[in-house]
Amino acid sequence: RGTTCSANISWPAGRSGACCRSDSSRSERTSPLAEPPSKPTAVSLIVLWQIEHSRIYGPLWKSKFGPLVVVNVASAQLIEQVLRQEGRHPVRTDMPHWRDYRELRSQAHGPLTEMGEKWARIRNILNPRMLMPRHVSAYGDSINPVVDDFLCRLAWLRDTRGRGLVVHDLTGELYKFAFEGICSVLFETRMGSLDEAMPEETQRFISSVGEMFHLSAVLVLFPRWAWPYLPSWRRFVAVWDHLFRVAEDLVRKKMEELQRMAQQDGGVEGAYLTHLLLGGHMTLTEILGSITELLLAGVDTTSNTISWCLYQLAREPQIQDQLYREVLAVCPGDQVPDSDAVSQMPLLKAVVRETLRLYPVVPGNARVSVEEMVVGGHLFRKDTLFHLCHYAVSYDQSVFPDAHAFLPRRWLRDGGEKLRQHPFGSVPFGFGVRGCLGRRVAELEMYLLLSRLIKQFEVRPDPAGGAVTPITRTLLCPSTLINLQFVDRASGGRRPPASS
Ligand code: HEM
Repeated sequence: RGTTCSANISWPAGRSGACCRSDSSRSERTSPLAEPPSKPTAVSLIVLWQIEHSRIYGPLWKSKFGPLVVVNVASAQLIEQVLRQEGRHPVRTDMPHWRDYRELRSQAHGPLTEMGEKWARIRNILNPRMLMPRHVSAYGDSINPVVDDFLCRLAWLRDTRGRGLVVHDLTGELYKFAFEGICSVLFETRMGSLDEAMPEETQRFISSVGEMFHLSAVLVLFPRWAWPYLPSWRRFVAVWDHLFRVAEDLVRKKMEELQRMAQQDGGVEGAYLTHLLLGGHMTLTEILGSITELLLAGVDTTSNTISWCLYQLAREPQIQDQLYREVLAVCPGDQVPDSDAVSQMPLLKAVVRETLRLYPVVPGNARVSVEEMVVGGHLFRKDTLFHLCHYAVSYDQSVFPDAHAFLPRRWLRDGGEKLRQHPFGSVPFGFGVRGCLGRRVAELEMYLLLSRLIKQFEVRPDPAGGAVTPITRTLLCPSTLINLQFVDRASGGRRPPASS
């Protein structure tokens, strides 16, 4: 147990590891936090537990995952209280397994794993070209060719493998899109992920990300001293080695390209990595640490979210039709949506927002208190780990009426509800200075792809497939394949004859 009991608090017999006391000077609350009985945990069930346990224990309760003691927070008001007290250098979790790997291999920490002043310095360098609107909108020119290729691939898959109608395993295809998209932004390089045969390196990178997340969830269940003896740790190290190797290869290629350009005409312009390399604010090792983490964070997040968007739009033909009309009104005829155009599509943004409410790809975020903190009338000591149960709050009927329904209009200003909703009811990109670094790029990627897809195809459910539920593999993913029909709109919505 990593935490000890503060003074003045009584705990149910047989329970220890308390990390709070009720703060009578600031609140009337006297009862201790509830703690469900410890039982072996399957991490994939965490999202279900969020809802189930918050129903049983209320919005604040304690649980244990292996050696970890966690205070769960499952109301918009209490999440706001935690986040508003996060301090100048918020700590998400100390991620000892990720940090240990970097120390083992003498690699630098990136924005995901760095802490304190060092983290703030990295964010100051990385932020401008990832978050400032004028820089981000320029990435549209890199992303749109990737969208072109993805649409061609989709039509090809449908015609060759889906009897002219169905695309199987959409999420798998969208991983490739997301990898290609983020590489185009970071490196201004095309990786060939959307070619008929995907390069083996790309395939391995994508599967390594999935495996690393899976192994992370396993390792935290064991005490740190045991890791070196576990096969999972050895595999974890091997998988990280591969992720760093791919990033290193891309960084090296970019450096060679820059040297050639500088020798040829002296003028060097380029993508995100170019600015990091030329900026002179980070060492090469630091750049590699950050680029690897950006690549890692930039694939499964956007791809899973787009999958859920299309899944929901297929099931809601009326909303899909409204979206089609919105896209057509802004970009009639052959016009291709760019970053300016998508900024004029409020329904498109609302569709993504609502999808992230129902399927927050980061279903539970975290903060470690950097000093004593009062939450829900309880005083928690420094270093308490708070698990923010975003998934449970997304389905809180008091915050989102008709919470299980896909209702993008709740995010539209003229829908009226947006102003009434609690601002911490759904925070899919996190909060504050530690919030998602890739948010603007992710949104642009999703808007550009979805607007084009809906303009070109009518998306329908595959009658052979049933409902798809989410599962947690650290990130929230579909538990089974999402297969959808893509009908060319040019064919007037008529189904093309099935090819043999
Ligand atoms: C739908 C897409 C995405 C979602 C929903 C998402 C969500 C999140 C969330 C919830 C966090 C934690 C924030 C916090 O603790 O307050 C985060 C952090 C982060 N995200 Fe994203 N993300 C997405 C896409 C991306 C992309 C495309 C990139 C890379 C280009 C990226 C890079 C990062 C990084 C580097 C961090 C760590 C920031 C830090 O600790 O300083 N994300 N993201």
